[in-house]
Amino acid sequence: MMNYRWRGVIEEYRKYLPVSDKTPVITLLEGNTPLLEARNLAEYISLPLRLLLKYEGANPTGSFKDRGMTVAISKAVEEGAKAVICASTGNTSASAAAYGARAKLPVIVIIPKGAIALGKLAQALLHNAKVVAIEGNFDDALRIVVEISQKFPVTLVNSLNPYRIEGQKTAAFEISDVLGDAPAFHALPVGNAGNITAYWKGYKEYHQLGINKRLPRMLGFQAAGAAPIVEGRPIENPQTVATAIRIGNPASWKFAVQARDESGGLIDKVTDEEIIQAYKLLASLEGIFCEPASAASVAGVIKKHKEGYFKSFEGETIVCTLTGHGLKDPQLAVETAPATFISAPPDLEEVVKILGL
Ligand code: F0G
Repeated sequence: MMNYRWRGVIEEYRKYLPVSDKTPVITLLEGNTPLLEARNLAEYISLPLRLLLKYEGANPTGSFKDRGMTVAISKAVEEGAKAVICASTGNTSASAAAYGARAKLPVIVIIPKGAIALGKLAQALLHNAKVVAIEGNFDDALRIVVEISQKFPVTLVNSLNPYRIEGQKTAAFEISDVLGDAPAFHALPVGNAGNITAYWKGYKEYHQLGINKRLPRMLGFQAAGAAPIVEGRPIENPQTVATAIRIGNPASWKFAVQARDESGGLIDKVTDEEIIQAYKLLASLEGIFCEPASAASVAGVIKKHKEGYFKSFEGETIVCTLTGHGLKDPQLAVETAPATFISAPPDLEEVVKILGL
C-alpha cells in the first residue's frame, strides 16, 4: 500500500526555497494539484498537441495563490511580523486570510468595491480578515497597500513580496516532475503578472540545475479590456468579466515581458466572449469547473491555434494553468450555464413526463 503523504510545497521543495530550520512552516498542504489531460477538448478544437491542464483550483483555498502564501506567511512569522496586508481581486485576499488565520496573524485586505466574486469575499470575511472595500479598482488598492506597508509595521503579501514568487514557482516544478521535462508551451492568464514571473523562474531553475533539458515557451493571456502589456500602456479603467485579472497596471510588468522574450513566447489578449466560451467548454467537455480568469489560458490557446501558431509543433505538449476554482464565482456560472432547471410537482408521473422518458 502506498504510504506517501504530500507535505505541502515548502517541505516538498524545501531545498529550492528561501526557508531554513528556523522558519515556522505555515501550511494547508497546498500543491500537488492535478495535471489532467484534456483529450475531449483537444479533439473538439482539432489541436494536434497534447493538451494538459494544471488545475490549481484544487488548492486548499481554491487558487494558485496558496503556493506563494505558505511561503510569504511563514517568512512573515519568522521575521516577527505583527500583521499582513494585501490588495486583491479576491483570490490573494482569500489565501492571505486563511494562512493568516492559521498563523494567528491579523490580516488586512483592500479590495475594489463590488468587483470581486462572491466566493472570494466570503472566504476573506469568514477567515476574519479586516476587509476594506475601496471605491476604486485593484490598481488603486495596490498603490494604497504598498504605501501602508512602507509607513506602518505591516508586511505586504502581494506578489511584490519575493516570497510569493518563490512559492508559486513550485507549480513549474510539479509539472516538470510529472512530465520528466518542461512542456513545449506553458499558457496562463496574466493579471498582476506575478504567476508568469514565478513559472518562468521555476522552469529556469530546473533547467539550470539540469533537472529539465528544455525550457517552455511562455504564453500569457490578458483580458482584452484589461491588457496593458499587450497594448504597451497602463489601462486606466480596465474592464472584463474575469474580475480576477481586471488589472490595468501590473506590478510585475517587466518580469512578464522578460519571461515572454527570454522564452520566445508571447503575451496576447482574449475577449470576454472567448473567455466564457473556453470556460463553458472546460465544464461541458472535461468536467472541469474553473473560474473565468483561469479559462483565459485555454481561450488563448484556442485563439493561437486558429491563427496557425502551433502548426509545426504536432505531438508536442502544452500545459494550461487553470488558476482558480469555478465555485469562486457561482453567479457567473449560473448566468452563463447552458442548462437551466425545470420546476416540477413532487409527482413521479409529472417528472417522467417532463423528462420525456
Ligand atoms: N487567475 C486568477 C484566478 C487570479 O486570481 C489571478 C490574480 C490571476 C489569474 C492572475 O495572476 O496576478 O499573478 O498575473 N489574482 C490576484 C488577486 C491579482 O488579487 O487575487 P497574476
